[in-house]
Amino acid sequence: MFASPTGAVVHYPLILKRFMENSSEYRFIKACRGEPVDKTPVWFMRQAGRYMKVYRDLKEKYTFLELCKNPELACEVTLQPLEVLGVDAAIIFADILLPLEPMGTGLEFSAGDGPVIPRPVKDRKAVEKLMPVNVEEQLGFVADAIRRVRKEIKIPLIGFAGAPFTLCSYMIEGGKSRDFTTTKLMMYDAPDVWEMLMDKVCTMLVDYLKMQVSAGAQALQLFDSWVGCLGPNDYEKYILPYSRRVFEGLKDTGVPVINFSTGTSTMLDLVQKAGGDVLSFDWRIQMDTARALLGKDQPVQGNLDPVTLFAPLPVIRERVHDILKRSGGKGYVFNLGHGILQHTPVEHVKAVVDMVHEYQHE
Ligand code: CP3
Repeated sequence: MFASPTGAVVHYPLILKRFMENSSEYRFIKACRGEPVDKTPVWFMRQAGRYMKVYRDLKEKYTFLELCKNPELACEVTLQPLEVLGVDAAIIFADILLPLEPMGTGLEFSAGDGPVIPRPVKDRKAVEKLMPVNVEEQLGFVADAIRRVRKEIKIPLIGFAGAPFTLCSYMIEGGKSRDFTTTKLMMYDAPDVWEMLMDKVCTMLVDYLKMQVSAGAQALQLFDSWVGCLGPNDYEKYILPYSRRVFEGLKDTGVPVINFSTGTSTMLDLVQKAGGDVLSFDWRIQMDTARALLGKDQPVQGNLDPVTLFAPLPVIRERVHDILKRSGGKGYVFNLGHGILQHTPVEHVKAVVDMVHEYQHE
């Protein structure tokens, strides 16, 4: 027992509870839970990165992987966009591909080609050789970065990982892909190998994301960036059960989990079935059409085309207002449908934050 600031003697668990409840007072967390908010919360996928000069300056001295693996630097990069933009949430600076190194495939980032996986996983033998990950030991630098960021900020911090499909597609293709032929053929030719691979990845993902929550992440996002390359039949058969396993495995963390995908407008009902508290989709569907399909109680995120941020401000304003109007104002987190692009003008990103915060719902 000890004295609270008001002089009343309180029990420690009460203080702890109040501290935890505070995190649900953030408008971002409230919107994720479908609760009423004073203003629509807004953050941006890839809000830290090359479109910002401070980030480019740091990249003169360090490689991308060095930034990710050094908690002090990862913390610094996470903080870079926050004050400049005035967003309602931070996202830890890391990459969805970091767990591939401890699994044994290797990971490199080349200047022109993006990520390269030197030992791709193309057959049963390669899947069998994948190593279980001790997340605390091998990916503990992400937890360290999360702990550092939490000490510095008063807005919620989002942790993240790649969704099983998107992660496996990199492991199988060995890098970026246009048609995902090798990945799809593993599903069709060797469904038992596909199952073994997804099983290993799901186990790692649940451990990894739980570690992020233990370190202080107040929400999570699962990135299924490329799952839109599949038709609904394949999604339902080969992906949905595994994504669902990850969402189910995270339920006891108590934090809201965002199910992000792109190119899935024609199968949002299936994506919803996979799980997650918030559904994040791209610009290929109108916000109100999606809400009608998903039900008004389904919290949602996203919808602005990242290319819109290059347009003149009046065009941006018209698009932002249109989305907000169609969103109905409740259970909605403003965001892009995909990450900020490299040469996006910072002033336009900042202007969007103000447009969202100033918007009055009728
Ligand atoms: O959002 C944030 O600010 C947090 C940081 C973050 C990064 N990657 C940093 C990054 C997040 C959330 C990611 C997720 C990620 N990484 C995804 C899912 C989101 C999406 O965009 O679809 C994917 C598919 C990856 C894999 C990846 N990492 C790719 C394809 C690339 C190359 C991209 C490019 O533009 O060249 C990366 C590298 C990467 N991840 C960069 C950053 C800032 C650029 C690295 C650099 O500075 O050169």
